[in-house]
Amino acid sequence: MKFLEARQLTKRFGGLTAVDNVDFDVDKGEILGLIGPNGSGKSTTMSLIMGLHKPDAGSIHLNGVDIAGWTPNRIAGMGVSMVFQHSRPLQQQTVLQNVLLACLPNKVTHLRVSDAQREKAIESLRLVGLNGVHDKAPSELPFAGLRRLEVAKALARDPDLLLLDEPFAGLSAGEVREFSDLIRHLKGSGRALILVDHNVKSVAALVDRAVAMSSGQRIAEGSPRDVLANADVRRVYLGSQSDTVAPEVRRDDSDAPPVLRVKNLNVFYGKAQALSNVSIDVVDKGVTAVVGLNGAGKTSLFNAIAGLLPSRGEISVRDRSIAGMPAYEIARSGIVLCPESRELFGDMSVLENLKLGGMHLSAADLRERLEFVEQIFPRLAERRRQYARTLSGGEQQQLAIGRALMMKPKLLLIDEPTLGLAPIVMDIISESIEALRKSGELSLLLAEQNMVFASRHADSVYLVEHGSIEWSGPAHQFVEQAGSKIL
Ligand SMILES: Nc1ncnc2c1ncn2[C@@H]1O[C@H](COP(=O)(O)OP(=O)(O)OP(=O)(O)O)[C@@H](O)[C@H]1O
Ligand SMILES: [Mg+2]
Repeated sequence: MKFLEARQLTKRFGGLTAVDNVDFDVDKGEILGLIGPNGSGKSTTMSLIMGLHKPDAGSIHLNGVDIAGWTPNRIAGMGVSMVFQHSRPLQQQTVLQNVLLACLPNKVTHLRVSDAQREKAIESLRLVGLNGVHDKAPSELPFAGLRRLEVAKALARDPDLLLLDEPFAGLSAGEVREFSDLIRHLKGSGRALILVDHNVKSVAALVDRAVAMSSGQRIAEGSPRDVLANADVRRVYLGSQSDTVAPEVRRDDSDAPPVLRVKNLNVFYGKAQALSNVSIDVVDKGVTAVVGLNGAGKTSLFNAIAGLLPSRGEISVRDRSIAGMPAYEIARSGIVLCPESRELFGDMSVLENLKLGGMHLSAADLRERLEFVEQIFPRLAERRRQYARTLSGGEQQQLAIGRALMMKPKLLLIDEPTLGLAPIVMDIISESIEALRKSGELSLLLAEQNMVFASRHADSVYLVEHGSIEWSGPAHQFVEQAGSKIL
């Protein structure tokens, strides 16, 4: 008997079978990898184990007990913890308080955390590298910090089975290595783990076995090597995985004036300086990438350009200053931000979210634009009426980019475009970026951790470190001259 045994697990949402008759096992001291395209049912499978959804059919035996359909608190009491795909900390509480809350015993009569649990919480924060920020508000943490906080919350409960839904999303290569070490350590201490992530190489390096899913079904199982070599898995999930999509012409050596110029930009959060004297030129009708570790200042730069953050310095479009302009005017002028946090309207449908982006268009333009966006992301066309909040992680990312494209941007700023996307969808985005480049319709500014993706498309690259530009130049020189800082 394995520690966890799932048999014929099935979950339907209306007419959609999100998890379809799936079997898998995982034992203590073992990591099972779950891979598959966006919307293939990975998060739903994890939610079924955690009790967040009730299966329509099938069994889940944990240590010999069938827990299928139990409430999440009972399942948590059996030693199961989950790191969710989306970080949702309590904003009124500090980082440490968030972890302490996760440790509260499962009894109304016990609302105090024991000293031992407090120590456990502090130890968990140390393990995930959040030592110095106990008293900060979660809103002060960068994206990766929030992911770390989620892991700390799960660890503080000392789980026997840990479900990790995309722990690597948005992390830089170095951070992924650190997290991988932590996951190995957890396995070594005799826990069972299930890992879902689109960082295929890192998953393959970690897991003992992999299960691949597609449209809710298990399509392959075996060693990570065999599963990744499987023809079906390659077709539905991995795509080409090649660098074939590349710009025909790079614009790094053109003398054309930049579409957007940022000069000596400074941003402060209270007394802390997030950006100091940042200057960048965004290539007209080309692709400019801003790369750097988490917390380096990429998001602050993008938010400042979009008018969402007060800043000092020059931001100009064709010699016209936009610094200090309200965010909506900047957006209307054609400079559109697709934020890392997506900011979708969860209780509105896919179509309503898209239409909001195209609110200023005439009926005919709106229709034409919708067609264009749905052609890039066919999943959005299939799910027009689905609530945005019920979309899978990668589907939400497609909607966020789609909504930004609906605005017909002249300059599109995408903060972490590849976040949570299956490799095959990255291929689609790659192709779209090149198609947009060819159409001469728009200029792109990307903030990326994924250097392979960024350097595939970018004409010019800026490396940000601790709020300053540390290197800039044509993309093809980046790896050689500055790659060691991020790769
Ligand atoms: N409450 C719901 N109502 C309707 N459809 C849902 C609901 N929850 C999930 N789905 C759909 O079920 C499918 C499986 O979703 P799931 O979140 O499990 O995918 P995933 O494999 O985790 O994908 P990703 O890699 O993008 O996170 C998706 O197409 C999603 O849109
Ligand atoms: Mg998911």
